[in-house]
Amino acid sequence: MKELEEIIRFAESKGLFISKQSVELLSKNDNWKKILEELFEEGQFMIEPKILERKLARTKISQLSTKVEIRKTNFSPQAKDRAPNFRVMQEYDVTGQSNSEGKVEDFLRLFRSKFKLLSNMLKERHNLSPIEIKNLKSIPKNENVDLIGIINKKWITKNKHIAFEIEDLDTKCIVLIMQKEKELMLKGERILEDNVIGIKGVKIGDDFIIIKEIYWPDLPIRKNVLLNEEVYSGGTSDFHIGSKYFLDKVVEKWLKFLNGENLSEKQKQKVGKLQYLFVNGDNIAGVGVYPGQFDDLLIKDLYDQYEAFEEIMLQIPEYIQIFVCPGQHDSVRRAEPQPAIPKEFLPRLYAQRNFHFISSPSWVETEGLKNLIYHGPSIHDLISNVSFLTMDHPEKGMVELLKKRDLMPSYGGRNPYVPEKKDYMVIKEIPDLVWIGDMHHNGYANYRGTTVLNGGCWEAQTDFEKKIGHTPTPGIFPMINLSNRQITEFYFMRNNLQKEIVPEQLEEVKE
Ligand SMILES: [Fe+2]
Repeated sequence: MKELEEIIRFAESKGLFISKQSVELLSKNDNWKKILEELFEEGQFMIEPKILERKLARTKISQLSTKVEIRKTNFSPQAKDRAPNFRVMQEYDVTGQSNSEGKVEDFLRLFRSKFKLLSNMLKERHNLSPIEIKNLKSIPKNENVDLIGIINKKWITKNKHIAFEIEDLDTKCIVLIMQKEKELMLKGERILEDNVIGIKGVKIGDDFIIIKEIYWPDLPIRKNVLLNEEVYSGGTSDFHIGSKYFLDKVVEKWLKFLNGENLSEKQKQKVGKLQYLFVNGDNIAGVGVYPGQFDDLLIKDLYDQYEAFEEIMLQIPEYIQIFVCPGQHDSVRRAEPQPAIPKEFLPRLYAQRNFHFISSPSWVETEGLKNLIYHGPSIHDLISNVSFLTMDHPEKGMVELLKKRDLMPSYGGRNPYVPEKKDYMVIKEIPDLVWIGDMHHNGYANYRGTTVLNGGCWEAQTDFEKKIGHTPTPGIFPMINLSNRQITEFYFMRNNLQKEIVPEQLEEVKE
């Protein structure tokens, strides 16, 4: 209370008119006197909350930009002298390619294209010889039969069997998992509406099959492709800049680390080999993303949030190639596939040669390895539908999507999609590395030669996360050695903690 009066008195002494709201805002800032003095010098007269917020945002930005001194003495990163080798795979990037009108026909075309792409993958499996559903009639009763279909409907029968109506390009039929088949019942839980699956079954009627085995389009079984040279890629995500929960001091430590400050010789060597960095969306907190967000924002203007993001990104050494995709909090459409964040928000980063703005999902080739970059909202949807998936293990959700070879496994959940003419959501290529975010939780998995990494977040636990009982893992930065797929986690919330994760310890999620 005393401080409020002190602020009013000081403002009056400078001849400033200050609103009650502005006084309250200032009282939360230790530097209120300096801020008022600066506003006075800038010729401000009426101290309205809007003016003050902009000033506070800028003060925060300048604090950030002055704190990390880039001292390059003693740090001679190996990646600096090494030519990067990468290609943004434009053919899978929706930026500037969006041409959907969102009509019913667009959705139908999308589902047909998805069915064709995924059924072609299933047909490549040597143990599956599918017939078209319309040809079921020509198969005698009680004979074995293989089919491929997209799930139209799923339900539990009175006798607790799982039933599906599946469809191909012509017609549909009912397929059933018998309740006594425990293993199949577990697999059945993973199957959601709109998934494309292959089945082996027994014909009971012209449009009725009992399932004996289920197949996903899946990744082929293969080994990790390793480089001959020690090169590192790193992944990070969910800065949520502008949020009152944003951990600016922790990010400062990370920036110092990337610049080789206060590190042991061994650590310096390792971080000096970081050549590629994937920044996986929710770069800013955004404005009006959820009801009541305004009170959670420290920077309430979209452009100011991006300006602060630029300040942080510009402190990363320029020999690192940085790929930035959007998330649901960024200033692009919420529906997927999301195009890259436009230049108007990030003019200074667009002017840098080492920054690449990509869509979500998108693909980037680095050193001949294929990276799939995806913010991750459909993993969210999947977790809410499948009992064995949790927010603490986003990598397991991603592995489910790899099995389904589809980043839009189910339509009509919380996450909206645009029916683009080209299908950007089917996982057409076989990724070597998958970079995800969104869940604010680090997690890693190795599945059939593909390494999945979630780079966590830089935002402390929000009220919402507290309410739903989710504990995020902020301030952890993973880097992967592409010559052996070993991951090193660096911890910035705690001092100097570093954890090595060898590939054997990564979870191999079995079918
Ligand atoms: Fe986020």
